[in-house]
Amino acid sequence: MSEFIKAAVIGHPISHSKSPIIHNHWIEKYALNGSYEAIDIHPDNLSAELDKLIAQGYSGFNFTLPHKELVLPYCDELEQIAEVIGAVNCLSVKDGKKIGSNTDSYGFLANLTHQKQGIDFQGGAALVIGAGGAARAIVSALMSTRMPRIYVTNRTFEKAQKLADELNMFTDLIVPVAWDKKDQVLDQCTLIVNTTSLGMDGQPDLEIDFGRLSKGALVNDIVYAPLQTKFLKDAQASGFETVTGIGMLLYQAQQAFRKWFHVNPEVDEELTQKVLAQI
Ligand SMILES: NC(=O)c1ccc[n+]([C@@H]2O[C@H](COP(=O)([O-])OP(=O)(O)OC[C@H]3O[C@@H](n4cnc5c(N)ncnc54)[C@H](OP(=O)(O)O)[C@@H]3O)[C@@H](O)[C@H]2O)c1
Repeated sequence: MSEFIKAAVIGHPISHSKSPIIHNHWIEKYALNGSYEAIDIHPDNLSAELDKLIAQGYSGFNFTLPHKELVLPYCDELEQIAEVIGAVNCLSVKDGKKIGSNTDSYGFLANLTHQKQGIDFQGGAALVIGAGGAARAIVSALMSTRMPRIYVTNRTFEKAQKLADELNMFTDLIVPVAWDKKDQVLDQCTLIVNTTSLGMDGQPDLEIDFGRLSKGALVNDIVYAPLQTKFLKDAQASGFETVTGIGMLLYQAQQAFRKWFHVNPEVDEELTQKVLAQI
């Protein structure tokens, strides 16, 4: 019998997390010897509680709010992507070593490339709306595609500027744009991504002038509750192709699952519908 693998998602609160549905679907589908739970840990007790879980044999963790940054100093090693993003959403314990990673960049890119086969990243600029944790993961992912320019706009401009300063390093690929000037760059963009919480259930909607967006551009919203945000509906009404946010959630889980269970699990329609039914 193979070793029993224990994994969990840690947050505070945690009851909203869809990760147990995703990982348990795969554990069952591939008849694996393992478990995945949701565990609520208060940020004040994070390291002590993680120590206890590791002593009990847990070897894989996901982190959600408010832990993604707090867990950085707990890691013995950071994969480069976690270091660049400045947040850990996935931790693996290997030979007693705690290795922090971030699977959001992979999740974002895997979703886009699966939804839009043959997507040409080098044919125009991207506009990333927002400058929080998800935006950092997405800008890092887009940098790897060699897009010629990545505009970043944010309600608080200083955060867009800081993101550009930190991720640009020796390039000038990332260009911060003032929130009230974002429509002015739309004619250069072949991809727009909403990474803000605008459009989420209970939040105001995100409005942009789709009349100014370059013809044939792809519009992605990483918000998935609701699945079809007003931003995506407006884009469709103006004739643009759209990609919803649920795939990024599923693909970021795929990379984490692979690290812990050494199986490459499939993101299929059955799983997508299972998760959507809980939103
Ligand atoms: N699909 C997925 O797998 C996935 C993965 C990660 C995150 N997400 C979603 O992405 C969103 C952002 O997550 P995050 O972790 O990046 O959060 P975060 O770090 O808290 O960043 C929030 C972002 O939203 C902006 N924002 C919030 N309220 C706003 C408003 N009223 N007007 C304009 N901008 C506003 C913030 O701008 P300021 O800097 O000005 O406050 C900031 O840019 C959430 O909805 C989350 O659920 C989805």
